Amino acid sequence: MWQPKDLVLVAISLCVLACTVAGDGGGRPLVTAVTRDATSLYTIPVKSSRPLPLVLDLSGPIVWSTCDGGASHDTLECNNMDCMRAHRFHPPNCQHTGYGMPDAHNPYRCKCTAHPHNPVSGDTASGDMTRVTLSANATDGRNPLGPVSFTAVTSCALDSLLAGLPVGAVGVAGLARSGLAFPAQVSRTQGVANSFALCLPSGQGNGVAIFGGGPLFAANGRSITELLGSRTPLRKHGESPGYYISASRGIAVDGARVPLDSYAPLTIGFSTTIPYAELRHDVYRPLINAFDQAMERQGAITTGARVPSPAAAPFELCYNSSRLSPTRFGYFVPTVELMLEGGRNWTVFGINSMAQVNRATACFAFVEMKAGDKSCVAAPAVVLGGFQMQQNLLMFDEEKQTLGFTGQLTGRGLSCGHFNFTMPA
Ligand SMILES: *[C@@H]1O[C@H](CO)[C@@H](O)[C@H](O)[C@H]1NC(C)=O
Ligand SMILES: *[C@@H]1O[C@H](CO)[C@@H](O)[C@H](O)[C@H]1NC(C)=O
Ligand SMILES: *[C@@H]1O[C@H](CO)[C@@H](O)[C@H](O)[C@H]1NC(C)=O
Ligand SMILES: *[C@@H]1O[C@H](CO)[C@@H](O)[C@H](O)[C@H]1NC(C)=O
Repeated sequence: MWQPKDLVLVAISLCVLACTVAGDGGGRPLVTAVTRDATSLYTIPVKSSRPLPLVLDLSGPIVWSTCDGGASHDTLECNNMDCMRAHRFHPPNCQHTGYGMPDAHNPYRCKCTAHPHNPVSGDTASGDMTRVTLSANATDGRNPLGPVSFTAVTSCALDSLLAGLPVGAVGVAGLARSGLAFPAQVSRTQGVANSFALCLPSGQGNGVAIFGGGPLFAANGRSITELLGSRTPLRKHGESPGYYISASRGIAVDGARVPLDSYAPLTIGFSTTIPYAELRHDVYRPLINAFDQAMERQGAITTGARVPSPAAAPFELCYNSSRLSPTRFGYFVPTVELMLEGGRNWTVFGINSMAQVNRATACFAFVEMKAGDKSCVAAPAVVLGGFQMQQNLLMFDEEKQTLGFTGQLTGRGLSCGHFNFTMPA
């Protein structure tokens, strides 16, 4: 006689079967430590099996690295699918030079070239598209489970293109919304989702990135990905392959909407290669004024807290930090809220808004964007930098075209450094 509990058992076995099958069709996500250097650039160790660090670039459409031994690498043919992918995007100020160049030895064979771009120096070069071995650990979201190597399509570059990158870095891992970016290549080779979780560290310690979606747990067993909340749609901005969302309801400081010239939705971008948030001129001045006034209203710090900031360029608003109260969210200062499409707020507390420039001084870490190059598309209103993203888990999901974020982790007793990097015995 069938009992309801048998049905439950059957259902469980079916699920186990189905889950196993799905698990076999897809591999496991890959995890890497994220290290921050003194210039606020972030690297992940994934090049070759040693493994050597590549710089993270949220706006980079390809992966590039220096090629050993000059001509010893093999080069993709121009009609290769990945060659065409590489040419869908070309860096700022770079001419579209076609899919490749005739091979010097055999003019009838065309070799694939790409345009590796250094996001720090702004330099762009030409390099052969080749294949290299990258590696990282598989993960269940709790620990690294052992190294996985895979072949990736990358562009070669000369050592000179490394100028301005952290010492030891051998190239750039582009994370943008392109088929040749690092997350897309992990997705194809490992059979995992084209989505990645990025948790940038604030100080000396490591942060963590998981390619292939979640989950992500802290070493104490708490799920960090569970805190992601409802997702915000990703938007396009001109031709850029980077990540953008829309603050359709503007910006607020301490609960009051910042008055702007126009109430059109504001485009918010993300960059791992600028240290601090950059604001377009028409947004910068009103936000600085609103923050300054909100600081004045905040009783305790009215007298003598504001200090001159000539030594603190590019910051304009600096404060005597011994007059600011420290909290788990950083200094107790007015919150800046980006009121996003979809209803959520991206809330910036002191830990992501006040940069300690020396022992005595903390400054409001939003800077004015330099007048942009004359492209047809207006600059985004805000580009959040590493300082604004640190200690916040971001989930960039290219498949669902959404961004998830947990908000400030430190206030919940968590941190981007809480992933357990010890491999189980
Ligand atoms: C895998 O994780 C272990 C332990 O954290 C680490 O020592 C090793 O370098 C990692 N391997 C790769 C390829 O990242
Ligand atoms: C977003 O911030 C505004 C301004 O502080 C506030 O009025 C609104 O309730 C917030 N929305 C959410 C979902 O927290
Ligand atoms: C900062 O505030 C402290 C405590 O109120 C005071 O002793 C110190 O002189 C101030 N420093 C500056 C540079 O104003
Ligand atoms: C980290 O993981 C290892 C391997 O599973 C385990 O032995 C260790 O207790 C964990 N550390 C913490 C702090 O939970």
